[in-house]
Amino acid sequence: MTFPTNGTASEEPLFTSEYISPEVLAALPEGYTCRPIQRTDYHAGFLDVLRVLTTVGDISEEKWNERYDWMKKRNDAYFLLCILDGTGKIVGTGALIVERKFIHNLGLVGHIEDIAVAKDQQGKKLGLRIIQALDYVAEKTGCYKSILDCSEANEGFYVKCGFRRAGLEMAHYY
Ligand code: ACO
Repeated sequence: MTFPTNGTASEEPLFTSEYISPEVLAALPEGYTCRPIQRTDYHAGFLDVLRVLTTVGDISEEKWNERYDWMKKRNDAYFLLCILDGTGKIVGTGALIVERKFIHNLGLVGHIEDIAVAKDQQGKKLGLRIIQALDYVAEKTGCYKSILDCSEANEGFYVKCGFRRAGLEMAHYY
């Protein structure tokens, strides 16, 4: 299967680039950028960066495309973005899922998920920039708060990003 790489629908962003914070773009290291993910990111190292976080599995391009297209149809709820280094390689990613509620006057809540920065790129404030970028999306989409689950080991990172401990995570695995 040939895969288009230039000037095609595959390079359309998952969601509008207007939701990318100008302050975050300005604060990134020289040559780095931040943008919504796009279909061609299968080839730009997106899944490899996620492997820093957890098991990803062996995902074929066909399966990636299927899941990407599913998200694209719901791009008022699924906001996945990435940071690229000067060579166009993905070195960080994060997601905001916007939940629409009945409570709090039909309130919107942002769920921050799957934050990952490539091992050799950690400590350059890229994690902070990803959270700031997701906060910007949350504000733009009208969320009244964003929440996330993390390990004790990462609590300090999220505190530095402006979060505070609230509640307790519970899980039921199937
Ligand atoms: N504990 C305490 N402080 C931390 C930690 C930590 N684990 N990690 C970073 N910090 C501090 C940094 O020292 C820095 O502080 P400073 O402003 O005083 O210098 C500040 O937080 C910002 O750090 P960044 O450089 O932006 O962090 P980095 O780019 O390395 O990204 C991240 C942090 C995302 C946790 C990265 O280490 C990573 O990808 N880890 C593996 C995957 C992971 O655990 N992801 C989070 C899962 S939780 C979730 O997805 C909701």
